[in-house]
Amino acid sequence: MTEPAQSRIGVTGLAVMGANLARNIARRGVPVAVHNRTAARTKEFVEAYGDEGTFHGAESLEDFVAALERPRRIIVMVKAGAPVDGVISDLTPLLDEGDIIIDAGNSHFPDTKRRTEECAANGLRFMGIGVSGGEEGALLGPSIMPGGDPAAYAEVEEVLTSIAAVVDGTPCCVHVGPDGAGHYVKMVHNGIEYADIQLIAEAYDLLTHVAGLDAPAIAAIFEEWNTGDLESFLIEITAKVLAKTDERTGGPLVDVILDQAGQKGTGTWTAIDALDLGVPLTGITEAVFARGLSALRSERKAASTVLAGPNPSAAENRTDLVEDIRQALYASKVVAYAQGFAQMRAASQANDWNLDLGAMATIWRGGCIIRAQFLNRIRDAYEEHRGTAAGGVGEGSDIENLLMVPYFTEAVANAQDAWRRVVITATEQGVAIPAFASSLSYYDAYRRERGPANLIQGLRDFFGAHTYKRIDAEGSFHTRWAQDGTEVRTDA
Ligand code: 6PG
Repeated sequence: MTEPAQSRIGVTGLAVMGANLARNIARRGVPVAVHNRTAARTKEFVEAYGDEGTFHGAESLEDFVAALERPRRIIVMVKAGAPVDGVISDLTPLLDEGDIIIDAGNSHFPDTKRRTEECAANGLRFMGIGVSGGEEGALLGPSIMPGGDPAAYAEVEEVLTSIAAVVDGTPCCVHVGPDGAGHYVKMVHNGIEYADIQLIAEAYDLLTHVAGLDAPAIAAIFEEWNTGDLESFLIEITAKVLAKTDERTGGPLVDVILDQAGQKGTGTWTAIDALDLGVPLTGITEAVFARGLSALRSERKAASTVLAGPNPSAAENRTDLVEDIRQALYASKVVAYAQGFAQMRAASQANDWNLDLGAMATIWRGGCIIRAQFLNRIRDAYEEHRGTAAGGVGEGSDIENLLMVPYFTEAVANAQDAWRRVVITATEQGVAIPAFASSLSYYDAYRRERGPANLIQGLRDFFGAHTYKRIDAEGSFHTRWAQDGTEVRTDA
């Protein structure tokens, strides 16, 4: 017997993220239809959580679709890639014009753009929404980055804002932009997450191998750091991970965890996209490479006995080393965010998304993995510079680079001596700090009015007649380097 269509929203895909999102929605008093490819999972879900709200456990996709109010709103929470296309093609014949399919997984934004068009051709509205906060966030309040048609968003806004994290009375959910914009912003969020984590790992490495501290001592340092400028979820959980005792050995758990980082691809997508856009995204990209290098475990093991390190290997005893590392971490973090926001700005222009970057900082303040006090400063910066060209920033409400906002200009200026000392010490001691060092190099390159690319242009022109421009004359030029040495104007 068909029950009346009474569920306001549906969730298909009941692995932990989908299950927790469904529970979060139902706990707000919204009736939810739930479905999973294997019906046994749906049954288990309803048995386990049925008393948390009003659920319709659907055994088939037909039953699931029939249980939904119109326009139907269906959240798809399956593995990114082919499974998403599979669900869309299974759902399409069952849906009616105007129904809304919402992909809440970590999909790649070009796929979201394509799916938006494909669904539109079938009369369906497709939304790609970024959801951050892991399992706990999905259940208790994630940060939500919805992309897609604004009219479709209006149909789900109430539900999405009601389940999102809330900071200072503001839900961490705002319509990001059309088609792939939501998944794009989530991708950059993840890239920044990679940079944040890498910087923390580098600080841990220095505290271990240069300052000579053990995991519990470093845990205490991170706990302390979490009370200042660095206050954030990732710093907080770093203290917890470092403080954890291993049940088997009785020593710190972190000491027996294999030093080989996994990755599911969003960091790589962010770096590739930055290369495509021509945006220097050194911090995030170094973080992705560092995970790649960590995976070369057997090569590293062999190299560790062959490749020589520096001689001054004794632990540094500088009393200010810990504070220097804190400042280096903070300055490098500012650079990583400046780069990530510059990338979103470039993507917004390239795709005509009109992203409100201040709003992105606002919805990342709570619920998500990179949530941090620091994001309030970024939010304030966009707010303060809205409609102005003050502080050396670009036109209108546009901030070309967060480093040019006085708050961050000053923060990095104050930290730079410590930052440089840390990079020198790490280099002398042979500790790899790709994200610290590349962030500092970015800072040094960005603040130079004249860099060394004049020579790059000279070389390109020498071997390939690629031409160059002059600082003292209009036009493009080529020098006959290997012939008579004369210069010719090539665009006249
Ligand atoms: C989040 C996380 C989440 C996931 C990352 C992990 O915002 O909730 O970013 O999406 O934990 O994708 O990525 P890696 O497995 O690549 O580290």
